[in-house]
Amino acid sequence: MSFALITGASRGIGKSIATELASRKFNILLVARDEQMLKEHAFILHSTYGVQVDFFAIDLTEDGAIDKLMRWLDEKLYTVSMLVNNAGYGLSGSMDSYSFLGYKNMMTLNMEVPVALTYRLLPMLLSQKKSFILNVGSSASYQSVPGMNIYAASKSFILSFSRGLCYELRNTAISVSVVSPGATDTDFPTRAQIFGQKAIKMLKATNMSPEAVAKIAVDGMLKGQTEIVAGLLNKVGVLLAWLLPKKVIEKSIAIIYGM
Ligand SMILES: NC(=O)c1ccc[n+]([C@@H]2O[C@H](COP(=O)([O-])OP(=O)(O)OC[C@H]3O[C@@H](n4cnc5c(N)ncnc54)[C@H](OP(=O)(O)O)[C@@H]3O)[C@@H](O)[C@H]2O)c1
Repeated sequence: MSFALITGASRGIGKSIATELASRKFNILLVARDEQMLKEHAFILHSTYGVQVDFFAIDLTEDGAIDKLMRWLDEKLYTVSMLVNNAGYGLSGSMDSYSFLGYKNMMTLNMEVPVALTYRLLPMLLSQKKSFILNVGSSASYQSVPGMNIYAASKSFILSFSRGLCYELRNTAISVSVVSPGATDTDFPTRAQIFGQKAIKMLKATNMSPEAVAKIAVDGMLKGQTEIVAGLLNKVGVLLAWLLPKKVIEKSIAIIYGM
């Protein structure tokens, strides 16, 4: 029996991806920090969809977290055939708004953790008949975002990492996808400390539901799509970022984020 392992599965997009996968009869392993929320969601998924569900509560940025997670998988004899690297967060404001350690934690979760999990699970994923890696990027992957600069750079890393890995693994059992949501109605803006009126208005006007994003992500991943941009509006945004001069895009975003 094999499982889909989803990081950041207690809330938001990760929780919705777990639900979407359970509804398609995948067995699920939920990972995030909040044990109570994981327990409740595991119970709901198991009782609603009849799939096997387990959870592991851990702060993935802690020293040794990936080793602990791998030990748990070993002890439980779980086989992972799908890895969803979703856990992540943003920080808004100018560069001096946070301590360097604050940025380091975000960079660890957004970049180092997905690479480490991919690296550690690669042999197991390669040994399956068919397996999947789904990384969660962002519409911010496609251009610099003054006002969420380091977050956007971390998501550009995820986009580039995913595309390169997809190519490297093209003749193997592993299909690699990256989904880029735009504004999605989750706790993301709270943790990112987005309080500016213009930014909040823009997010509210363009928000997709996490359920809609999850469905697009899972559909695209199972079809073997490499790059999945969630929703028409975000697709237009990606096209504009490619067409327009970078300075024009950066200026418009900076105005929204009050930079
Ligand atoms: N919402 C948006 O507008 C948006 C847009 C583009 C991309 N994204 C991306 O989508 C992904 C999911 O974000 P979301 O919008 O669903 O945000 P969210 O509602 O804040 O959910 C984040 C998830 O990550 C988990 N998490 C946070 N820190 C963690 C840590 N140190 N260790 C383990 N788990 C941790 C959280 O659970 P615990 O608190 O229980 O740990 C939660 O399950 C992120 O990668 C984000 O960058 C979001």
